[in-house]
Parts: sequence; structure tokens; C-alpha cells
Amino acid sequence: METFEAIAQRRAVKEYDPHHRMTEAEVEQLLTLAMLSPTAFNIQNWRFVVVRDPKLRQQIREVAWDQAQVTDASLFIVLCADLKAWSKHPERYWGDAPESVRNFVVPAIDSYYRGKEQVQRDEAMRSCGMAAQTLMLAAKSMGYDSCPMDGFDFDAVGRLINLPADHVIALFVAIGKSTAAPWPRGGKLPLAEVVINDTF
Ligand SMILES: Cc1cc2nc3c(=O)[nH]c(=O)nc-3n(C[C@H](O)[C@H](O)[C@H](O)COP(=O)(O)O)c2cc1C
Repeated sequence: METFEAIAQRRAVKEYDPHHRMTEAEVEQLLTLAMLSPTAFNIQNWRFVVVRDPKLRQQIREVAWDQAQVTDASLFIVLCADLKAWSKHPERYWGDAPESVRNFVVPAIDSYYRGKEQVQRDEAMRSCGMAAQTLMLAAKSMGYDSCPMDGFDFDAVGRLINLPADHVIALFVAIGKSTAAPWPRGGKLPLAEVVINDTF
């Protein structure tokens, strides 16, 4: 499927065939594509929690407004990020780069993030947002539908997945075979309202 078509056809789908099984090859393909999403300084701070256990899915659904996507989607991912990825052997993020590049970038990572809690959190959300969109467009290209989700109790989900203290949850992405058409589009604002030329 063409990129333009995948973007235009992706919709937030709420109903999925609970019996459809994705192959492991499809799951791996989606996650491998998601990892091609950009991250600042290539810190690859996203962590993709693939929830496979039906009991855990049910428990998550209970703290996610009982939304059926959580249990019925073929692939259900809690997109998390490691807030401290920037400090965990950052030289490995540039392991394939020439030494001169690595020597330049690695210290820059440290000075960009150290002591800046808000920047670390913002970066987590930026990275996960981009990975989520990659996942959803790739899923569309593979004949699947998807739903991004933040309608859940973040603390409760964190406890259920044993979220480490230095990680955050950004959103869920549910992917599967839709069984019902998406809601009609809510409507789009005029381009002129959201596009600002040069300055506000
Ligand atoms: C961050 C985020 C969180 C969302 N949370 C939910 C959710 O919890 N449940 C749901 O059904 N849809 C959720 N949506 C889907 C939006 O309602 C949907 O994307 C929006 O209405 C636009 O529709 P479209 O994606 O089909 O174009 C979420 C979307 C985003 C981007």
C-alpha cells in the first residue's frame, strides 16, 4: 500500500476479531519497522511491552474503561519509554558510526539530558508518539487496523506490567482485524486554523 493511502485509510478502530491470530513473523515485522522510527540522538528510548497473556489483557481492560480493544486486538502494545536511556551506555546508540562521530555525539547526549527531568519526559512522549504512528501505518499496509489509546489508569497499568521506576507509559496501540467500520470522522479543523506561517 502506498504511504499516502495508508495515512488516509488509518482510522481509530474499536472492534476487533478476538479469534484472529497474527503470526510471529508479522509481529516481528511490525516491531522491527517501529524501531526504524526516529529518536533524538538515536537514544531509542521506547520500550514495547507486548501483552500476550489473556489474563493480563483482561486485567488491563478493567483499568482501561473496559475498552474491548485491549482484549480483542491481535497485538496489544503498551508503549513505554526509559527516561534514563540517555545515561545507559549511550555509546551503543552510535556503535556503528565512525569513531569521530561517536566521540562528538555521546558527550552531547549527556549534556542535553542530565538534570533535565522535563526534557527526559518530553523526549519519552515524542519518541513513543512517532513509534506509535509507524506501527499504525505499517499495520494498515499489512491489512490490519489499529487504535492508539490513552483512556486508562496509568498507575494501575504500570503496576500490572511491573513498570520500572525510571520508565513511563506513553500510550497503548492495539492492532488487529476490524469487525466494524470506524466511527465517522469527527471532522477536521480548517487548515488555516492550525497552520501558522512564521509566527503566532
Ligand atoms: C493519544 C491518543 C489517545 C487515544 N485514546 C483513545 C482511547 O482510549 N480509546 C479510543 O477508542 N480511541 C482513542 N483514541 C483515538 C481518537 O479518538 C481518534 O484518533 C480520533 O478521534 C481521530 O480519529 P481517527 O484516528 O479515526 O482519524 C486516541 C487517540 C490518540 C492519538
